[in-house]
Amino acid sequence: MCGIFAYINYLTPKTRHEVLDLLVNGLKRLEYRGYDSTGVAIDATNTKDIVMLKSVGKVKVLEDSIAENLSGKEFDEPVLIHCGIAHTRWATHGVPCEKNSHPQRSDNDNSFIVVHNGIITNYKDVKTFLEKRGFVFESDTDTEVIAKLVHHLWKMHPGYSFRELVEQAIQQLEGAFAVAIKSRHFPGECVASRRGSPLLVGIKTKTRLATDHIPILYGKVLPRSESTSEFMPLEEKEVEYFFASDASAVIEHTNRVIYLEDDDVAAVRDGALSIHRLKKCTDDPHAREITTLKMEIQQIMKGNYDYFMLKEIFEQPESVVNTMRGRVRFESNSIVLGGIKDYIPEIKRCRRLMLIGCGTSYHSAVATRQLLEELTELPVMVELASDFLDRNTPIFRDDVCFFISQSGETADTLMALRYCKQRGALIVGITNTVGSSICRESHCGVHINAGPEIGVASTKAYTSQFISLVMFALVMSEDRLSLQQRRLEILQGLSTLADQIREVLKLDLKVQELAKDLYQHKSLLIMGRGYNFATCLEGALKVKELTYMHSEGIMAGELKHGPLALVDDSMPVLMIVLRDPVYIKCMNALQQVTSRKGCPIIICEEGDEETKSFSSRSLEIPRTVDCLQGILTVIPMQLLSYHIAVLRGCDVDCPRNLAKSVTVE
Ligand code: M6R
Repeated sequence: MCGIFAYINYLTPKTRHEVLDLLVNGLKRLEYRGYDSTGVAIDATNTKDIVMLKSVGKVKVLEDSIAENLSGKEFDEPVLIHCGIAHTRWATHGVPCEKNSHPQRSDNDNSFIVVHNGIITNYKDVKTFLEKRGFVFESDTDTEVIAKLVHHLWKMHPGYSFRELVEQAIQQLEGAFAVAIKSRHFPGECVASRRGSPLLVGIKTKTRLATDHIPILYGKVLPRSESTSEFMPLEEKEVEYFFASDASAVIEHTNRVIYLEDDDVAAVRDGALSIHRLKKCTDDPHAREITTLKMEIQQIMKGNYDYFMLKEIFEQPESVVNTMRGRVRFESNSIVLGGIKDYIPEIKRCRRLMLIGCGTSYHSAVATRQLLEELTELPVMVELASDFLDRNTPIFRDDVCFFISQSGETADTLMALRYCKQRGALIVGITNTVGSSICRESHCGVHINAGPEIGVASTKAYTSQFISLVMFALVMSEDRLSLQQRRLEILQGLSTLADQIREVLKLDLKVQELAKDLYQHKSLLIMGRGYNFATCLEGALKVKELTYMHSEGIMAGELKHGPLALVDDSMPVLMIVLRDPVYIKCMNALQQVTSRKGCPIIICEEGDEETKSFSSRSLEIPRTVDCLQGILTVIPMQLLSYHIAVLRGCDVDCPRNLAKSVTVE
């Protein structure tokens, strides 16, 4: 939802210019999380003051403002120890404007300043409490209560360490959050914490770290003046720390990170990092592991592409292979999903499978439901996480619930996961983000390995989720004799998929031409059925999200029950008509549309002259097994929405009002 980035250097001299560059760069990597306003805070020169700069709009606006306002010789002098914090916002409380941008402050002196991702649900109560104690609020945000509450506690408990103050404060807060806090009273220190929103610590040292874990401290720790033992210094003296919402913001500096858990309070002081929790539960670990990221810097760069989305669409021949890598063994026609193999017997005994997600992730469940029903012979329910929660859906101990999420942090999906876990169901995570909340809270899972997806519109994650669920269906049917022929057909389809995707991508210019016909229209209807209905939903979502045009995915079987009334000679329609078991029914729908003077664009199979003859505009895609067609039909839809968005002058990677990761309900 929002992006947090903090940088602390200890005995590693950096000029303020360099610090600002680092902060702005970190924000650029996180911009996909929110892009309506931004802010940074660093120490002022020659004083204990903190300088804050905020702006409305994208990170570039902040960058320009920094160049204009924070320059001069003093910014070129190296500082040995320093803490800077930064934020990119996706507004939830208060319109995007300077006063609502982060950092939010406790008072005019910037005693405590905070950057926050998430929502404080009890902020009104906390605000009333603080107002009664003389605090005057200046923004419409929920975040401001955090800074002021820490300030209030500081006045009440002069001996407390910075970490203790934050710890006391967050105990009073309800909701989901990740925060990083800086204070003029604790220069060079930073305290960060999370509950429900992601946060990690990146650690950079000159030499390889002497440890692969940071001990966790539990319970009350003595105030700062009486104890230094709470901090566990790494052996290295010169060290840099990064707090970030996502690994993509730190990978260019370090690949050594710790994913914080809910209610961890991480503090950096005198070059040492401590992780503290107030209460110890019986199964709590003694330390947080330092993880080595596998991500490469190139994966989060745009390369020669104008937009991340386009790059990600064109990465699909490789990303689908990465999803299958080491799992699908074409020589032996077998599949191993390491993350769930021990649970397969339990899954086979279950009462039903539930697939739960939001947006595109939900569509990947719709796309594979039929195959899962066929190969598992189990009832399969597909649910939108928000609706599932609204209905208090009954869940049983012998249910197996799949939570599908690119980010692994989507609030509705995570809430639904917790709901099902509490009721004793087996939880399977299907995510693209290692270390994400859904990953960590699942009993087992499949990592889709699509690589970082930065564009807000999900593309390669969809096709990789799709394949992950297909692989699961194949695993479930491994010992069913009657299904062997079908399995072989699908495995054969998977083996040629990457090349077929390359073929589909060659349609790009043709799709661009079609976009020219469509971009000035107000609406686009996308029709199909069977295995391709999910493509209609996903295509329509892409069009809405990127182009701000109305678009609707229509189940062709429903045409006569209402949508046909929309069809005339001016309504743009796209129809998916492939030679699969529902071909005849799709042809009926096509005829109904053309006989109402509709002029649909048709997506059909290569060389299908008969189907093509119904329209002057068509896109031909290679033939594959019916249950994998959706992977090939969705790609023209991704390209089409992309080109319409470009023609309409929309910001492809950062559509208005949206953010990549929706960490609030
Ligand atoms: O990270 P998730 O997969 O859980 O996100 C779910 C949706 O917010 C997401 O798929 C959204 O619909 C996409 N931006 C659509 O392109």
